[in-house]
Amino acid sequence: MDERIWEGESATIDRWEGVNYNWGMNASNEANVSNGDGPLLEVKNLKTYFPVKRGLMRKHVGNVKAVDDVSFTVGHQETVGLVGESGCGKSTVGRTILRLIPATSGRVRFEGEDVLAASRGRMKQMRREMQMIFQDPVGSLNPRMTIRRIIGEPMQVHKVASGSELDDRIAVLLEKCGMLPEHMYRYPHEFSGGQRQRIGIARALALNPKFIVCDEPVSALDVSVQSQILNLLADLQEEFGLSYLFIAHNLAVVEHFCDRIAVMYLGRIVEMAERETLYRNPLHPYTKALLSAAPSPDPRRKKQRIMLLGDVPSPISYFEDEKRLAAEIAAGKIDEMSEEEKAERAAEARDDIEVVTRKRLLDRPPLVEVEDGHYVSKHV
Ligand SMILES: Nc1ncnc2c1ncn2[C@@H]1O[C@H](COP(=O)(O)OP(=O)(O)O)[C@@H](O)[C@H]1O
Ligand SMILES: [Mg+2]
Repeated sequence: MDERIWEGESATIDRWEGVNYNWGMNASNEANVSNGDGPLLEVKNLKTYFPVKRGLMRKHVGNVKAVDDVSFTVGHQETVGLVGESGCGKSTVGRTILRLIPATSGRVRFEGEDVLAASRGRMKQMRREMQMIFQDPVGSLNPRMTIRRIIGEPMQVHKVASGSELDDRIAVLLEKCGMLPEHMYRYPHEFSGGQRQRIGIARALALNPKFIVCDEPVSALDVSVQSQILNLLADLQEEFGLSYLFIAHNLAVVEHFCDRIAVMYLGRIVEMAERETLYRNPLHPYTKALLSAAPSPDPRRKKQRIMLLGDVPSPISYFEDEKRLAAEIAAGKIDEMSEEEKAERAAEARDDIEVVTRKRLLDRPPLVEVEDGHYVSKHV
C-alpha cells in the first residue's frame, strides 16, 4: 500500500533522493533567500498529476489530477488544517511539499527558498526542517526495528549524534512524547496505537524541524486517545515553535486545533479562512455539508441540516471519463443524476434541510477573497 512508508527514515530519504526533479521549471533563477518576515511555507499553484496507463503497452491515456492548482501559506508557529473527504488529494499535497513525490508544476517555498528546485544536497539539509507524521501508526514504523533505531536513524543519517549522546537524545525525545526512555529497546508491536503515534512523533522531532506535515495523525486512533495526541502536538508546538500542516478528513478534529483551515474538494481548495470565521460563516456548500456532518459541542453554533447527495467522484472518473460519462448520461444509461435531482426537489419542499448535490460541486470557480483572509470558490 502506498500509505505504508515504513522502511525507516533512511530508506525514505533514499527514495526521496532518487527522484529526478528536472521537469522544466525555471524557478531556480528567482530570489533564493528568505526575506525574514514572510510565511514559513508558501505553496503556489501546485499541481500533482499521476499518469494513468492502460493496456498491454501501458499507454499513457490521461492524468489523475490529484492536486490541481492549490495555493496556501503556513506561518511561523501556525497550524493550518487541510480538510476534505478521502481521495480529494490531501496526502498528495503533503507529500509533494516534502518532495516525496514530484510536483507537476507550481511552487513551494520554505523560508523563502524554492523547495522544488533545490539540489539533492540542499534538499537533504532542508528535510531536517520539514518532517511528516503519518496516519497509520502501525504501518509507518518498521516492525523489525527497535524504537531506538527508528528514532535514532535520522540523527545518524544526518550525523547529528552518535554513541551515548544518541541514546541520550532518544531518551529525551521519548520523554517529550510521553514515553519512557527504556521503551527504546522494544519493538513497535509491543505498543498501542496511541503509543506508536507518539513514537512516530518522536521520530519526526529527532532533527529539530520547524515544520511538520501531520497526515491524519489521529484518524486511526480511538476517540479517547485522539485528544491525548492532539494535546501532545499542541504542547510540542508551543515548546519547539513548530508549524503544522494538519490533514484531516472531517472538521470535528481540526476545530480546536487549527488557526486557519482550508477545505479541499477534488484536488482544489474550495474555501479557506481563519478557524473562527470558517465555523461562524461557512460560505461554500461543501464546507457547510462537512460542518453539518461534524458533531459540535458548541451549542451556540446554529445547526443547519445539509445532505450531500451522490457518490464521491474519483479524479479519474471525473476528469478522464467525463466525456464518456456525459454520453452515457445523455443516452439514459446512468440515472444517478436524475435521482439526485429528484431528491433535491423532494428536499426543497421541506425548509429544515438543504441539499448539496455532488453535481453542483463539480463546478469549481476560482477562489475569491470575500472578507479579510476568507477565500471561497465562487463566481464573481
Ligand atoms: N501514487 C499514486 N498513483 C496514482 N494515483 C494516486 C497516487 N497517489 C494518490 N493517487 C490518487 O490521487 C487522488 C488523491 O489521493 P490522496 O492524496 O491520497 O487523497 P487523500 O489523502 O485526500 O485521501 C486519489 O484519487 C488517489 O487514488
Ligand atoms: Mg490521505
